[in-house]
Amino acid sequence: MKVGVIGLGYWGPNLVRNFLSTPGVERVYGCDLDEKRLAFIKSRFPAVEITKDTDFVLRSADIDAVAIATPVATHYPLAKKAIENGKHVLVEKPLTASVKEAEDLINLAEKNKKVLMVDHTFIYTGAVRKIKELIDNGEIGEIYYFDSVRINLGLFQHDVNVIWDLATHDVSIMDFVINSRPVSVSAFGTSHYNGIEDIAYINVNFDNGIIAHFHVSWLAPVKVRRILISGTKKMIIYDDTEPSEKVKIYDKGVVVTSQEGIHRLLIQYRSGDMYAPKLDDTEALSLVCREFVESIFENRNPITDGYAGLKVVKILEAAEKSIKKNGVLVNLD
Ligand SMILES: NC(=O)c1ccc[n+]([C@@H]2O[C@H](COP(=O)([O-])OP(=O)(O)OC[C@H]3O[C@@H](n4cnc5c(N)ncnc54)[C@H](O)[C@@H]3O)[C@@H](O)[C@H]2O)c1
Repeated sequence: MKVGVIGLGYWGPNLVRNFLSTPGVERVYGCDLDEKRLAFIKSRFPAVEITKDTDFVLRSADIDAVAIATPVATHYPLAKKAIENGKHVLVEKPLTASVKEAEDLINLAEKNKKVLMVDHTFIYTGAVRKIKELIDNGEIGEIYYFDSVRINLGLFQHDVNVIWDLATHDVSIMDFVINSRPVSVSAFGTSHYNGIEDIAYINVNFDNGIIAHFHVSWLAPVKVRRILISGTKKMIIYDDTEPSEKVKIYDKGVVVTSQEGIHRLLIQYRSGDMYAPKLDDTEALSLVCREFVESIFENRNPITDGYAGLKVVKILEAAEKSIKKNGVLVNLD
């Protein structure tokens, strides 16, 4: 298979590096409008064919699949053209800049029988796969809440706000590990510099009472990457800044008892052991590239398919709507 990577800025070179060592990929093309990025890629990866001609990568019969790592607003037009020209497509997160665009791409990919995949990188990390396993096998119990903080100083984006940049990661993790249906979103956010929100707080409500909260910011003095998930049996803390022991499981919780004749609930705290499971430390992006190629060869939907991308975009779009209306509750359909 021959794969073209469009967009060689910050993230694209990681895709190039990983596709070069993905089984089944025999050639990698790198494309950017910026000559300096092309020269950089050629110097780091001499085996890559470079071109400034995006249209060539989108149309060439020699290229089977395309990975798109350009600014968010360009995801839709580039992916659309690629699918129309018979290519399978891997799109960087977030899949598109709107729900309508995501739905269009899904329809187009289905009509043309092409794989449409979104790079929700975190889903492929050992940490998130372990968290899903713990929730699915019942160790955590019924989920109460999902709470995430993803803050640091910078990198201010020019084209998307902090929700589309940072919350994408956490919303995709939530969607992957929680097996319930989100029904509504409310959010607050504000901009301090260029009219683009640089700090936001998002709430997501589920049909079964689970609540999720996301705090994202480019304006924090320290880097925090922490997710807390609590269930009836145990609690999880996932700290992505930890070099090892990123996931810790606490045997802590609350036990409620009512005694006959006493019209009062007794609340007791349960505090047991904590352990940190061993995690697979394979680079997540190498698994993303492998999943993309294998899903093409096996003619199946990838784990993070167009629908996974759409679910995240729906929540991000609703959050943005809510921010513009001062936190009003926005229903997901
Ligand atoms: N999965 C992750 O963890 C992760 C991390 C960072 C960024 N991203 C995503 O990757 C995408 C790119 O982000 P970035 O930080 O690398 O941006 P960037 O601005 O550093 O790079 C984008 C590159 O695309 C090029 N480009 C723009 N339009 C083009 C076109 N039509 N044809 C060819 N090249 C074109 C630009 O010249 C630039 O070099 C975004 O969607 C972002 O959300 C994902």
